[in-house]
Amino acid sequence: MGGWSAERPVSLMSGEGVAEALESLGHKVTLIDMDRDVAARLAAAKPDVVFNALHGTPGEDGTVQGMLDLMGLRYTHSGMVTSVIAIDKQLTKQALVPHGIPMPGGHVVSTASLHEADPLPRPYVLKPVNEGSSVGVAIVTAEGNYGNPISAEAKGPWQEFDELLAEPFIRGRELTTAVLGDRALLVTELRPKSGFYDFDAKYTDGLTEHVCPAEIPDEIARACQRIALDAHRLLGCKGASRSDFRWDDTLGVEGLFLLEVNTQPGMTPLSLVPEQAKKLGMTYPELVQAIVEEALK
Ligand code: DAL
Ligand code: MG
Repeated sequence: MGGWSAERPVSLMSGEGVAEALESLGHKVTLIDMDRDVAARLAAAKPDVVFNALHGTPGEDGTVQGMLDLMGLRYTHSGMVTSVIAIDKQLTKQALVPHGIPMPGGHVVSTASLHEADPLPRPYVLKPVNEGSSVGVAIVTAEGNYGNPISAEAKGPWQEFDELLAEPFIRGRELTTAVLGDRALLVTELRPKSGFYDFDAKYTDGLTEHVCPAEIPDEIARACQRIALDAHRLLGCKGASRSDFRWDDTLGVEGLFLLEVNTQPGMTPLSLVPEQAKKLGMTYPELVQAIVEEALK
């Protein structure tokens, strides 16, 4: 857990929750807050299995997975190649769209080019290709926020990134579906009380209403589950993953788009995979145990 990605605080929360659950199940746990000596610390701990509670880069991006492969250690969640693809939203599209998975168009632009022209008609979304928890995400609206085009002086969450993925903004609703092993769980609708489902709305209790199961037509719920399971399989995910969607509810199933697949979904108290599992009668420790068992298969 931990590490030095922008999602470090989220990972510490996930890791602490997982450790407590593993201990409650009678497992012996060594907590490792990842630093550059992580290989030596893992070698000393000699674990039967590594529970990967990292989010973002590094940790969700294949680097740690490759190290664990080299060390001959078993670990939870997806392997190296899957992680390399899934952490990158553009590579994910290249892998999934040819298989008929609906994802928004768009392209990667240099941040500097935004000061010359809009990369897409407004409204559009700017996001780093390989961050999580909405770190660095901005919605550029027709009303001309940030200037038109984005002025060089404009302050925005993109500033730390040289390149960004620009995607058309899909109006409507925010949906998510977890996959555990070979089963798609439920669909949750996220209704932030204001703005969009950004970092604060994700991790501050009370800022977002979670409607689970989502109050949406059966056809849309089934489509989310089918797409989440197909994406999980096509990318070769293991353990748990979570697929995030936008749904333009004026367009029926044609308005449903997969945004991304999270291979290290959050395990914090406000996280969505544990919440869906709980609705299906699976406690948090049971979920943790199921993810561990998948790693030992
Ligand atoms: N990136 C965060 C941890 C999530 O997908 O839950
Ligand atoms: Mg993500």
